[in-house]
Amino acid sequence: MNAPDLGPTRPLAPPLYTASVYSLPDLDALDAVSDGHAPGYVYARDAHPNADQLAAQLAALEGGAWGVVCGSGMAALSAAFLSLVSGGDAVLASTRLYGRTSALLKDQLARFGVTTRQVDVNDLDATRAAVAEHKPKVVYAETMSNPLCRVPDLPVLAEIAHAGGAKLVVDNTFATPVICRPLELGADLVMESLTKMVGGHSDVFLGLLAGRDPALRPVVGQVVSVWGLLGGPFDCWQVERGLVTLGLRMRAATATAAALADWLADRPGVTRVVYPGRPDHPDYDLARRLFPAGCGNMLCFELAGGRGAVNRFLRAAPGVPLCPSLGHATTTVSYPVGASHRYVPAADREREGITAGLVRVSVGCEPFDDLARETATGLAAVG
Ligand SMILES: Cc1ncc(COP(=O)(O)O)c(C=O)c1O
Repeated sequence: MNAPDLGPTRPLAPPLYTASVYSLPDLDALDAVSDGHAPGYVYARDAHPNADQLAAQLAALEGGAWGVVCGSGMAALSAAFLSLVSGGDAVLASTRLYGRTSALLKDQLARFGVTTRQVDVNDLDATRAAVAEHKPKVVYAETMSNPLCRVPDLPVLAEIAHAGGAKLVVDNTFATPVICRPLELGADLVMESLTKMVGGHSDVFLGLLAGRDPALRPVVGQVVSVWGLLGGPFDCWQVERGLVTLGLRMRAATATAAALADWLADRPGVTRVVYPGRPDHPDYDLARRLFPAGCGNMLCFELAGGRGAVNRFLRAAPGVPLCPSLGHATTTVSYPVGASHRYVPAADREREGITAGLVRVSVGCEPFDDLARETATGLAAVG
């Protein structure tokens, strides 16, 4: 089919290229496109325009040399590890990880002979010692840990990793590139679950892997193609649409989150508020240094009455619905004990401070007064 003749006009919204395969005029063209000597596409599992266009925009936003868009955040993470480690290698990971990331490292990669050691990456001496002892190929951490938003010193982590011959890979999902750009702080690869704030509307799964070193791009590209990890055209198209308003949404949600954290701290029945932008957070100074645009839209609060109190809150405040995800355009809450950390042993949860009364909030873009009113209704029902 010939492309429609648009004359001098161009669509303002990006076109959606759903084709799984592209036609070519002859074998010379096939060679030229396949070898990268001419622009174009062949087979959409390897590359397609919607993925390339989104990846280029995201790479620029992250301060990276390149980006690859995968079918989910977990697909992007899989691509990172499949590119960087082989049987016999070690990974040194933070003790504070998204649950599925723990499973990827400890259950899945272990099947292929990759060993994962864990360390408190906020303890830099312990991290230095663990790198020296285990000689990992990869040091892995989250910019802001789930759910208590612990912030590791990424520039120092990068130094420690590089001094030990390891690459630093960072999950930046809680922060987004609006709040933090790990590649500019020394990380080698950054991963984002685009399913969250970047997509922004809870209607798409996608993930980004971006890097600084151009030599890694073909390695990752080969892994993504062979393991079938590339994101599909429609999902890329939707995230490209979300990206247009990411800065606006993130700045609005960050301002509201900071205000909500302070407001919650004064409410009776709230025993703890966890937000890195508050002076009582253990990483407050570091967060102020690393996140000049503010500390993002994620926070936690704790209710004195444990699970029963959380249930009463949720039933009385349907305007802040229980959703075991984050990054929606309006505020949602989650319950770490029952969702993200459901399968983490109770003793480990307690040690980290993930208690039965802890509620995680993903602040959205609604006006603060509306959010405070709904939250106050929920808190009033807690008793
Ligand atoms: C911090 C973090 N990293 C990675 C992921 C995985 O992303 P996805 O669900 O897009 O695979 C999630 C999902 O909740 C997450 O919260």
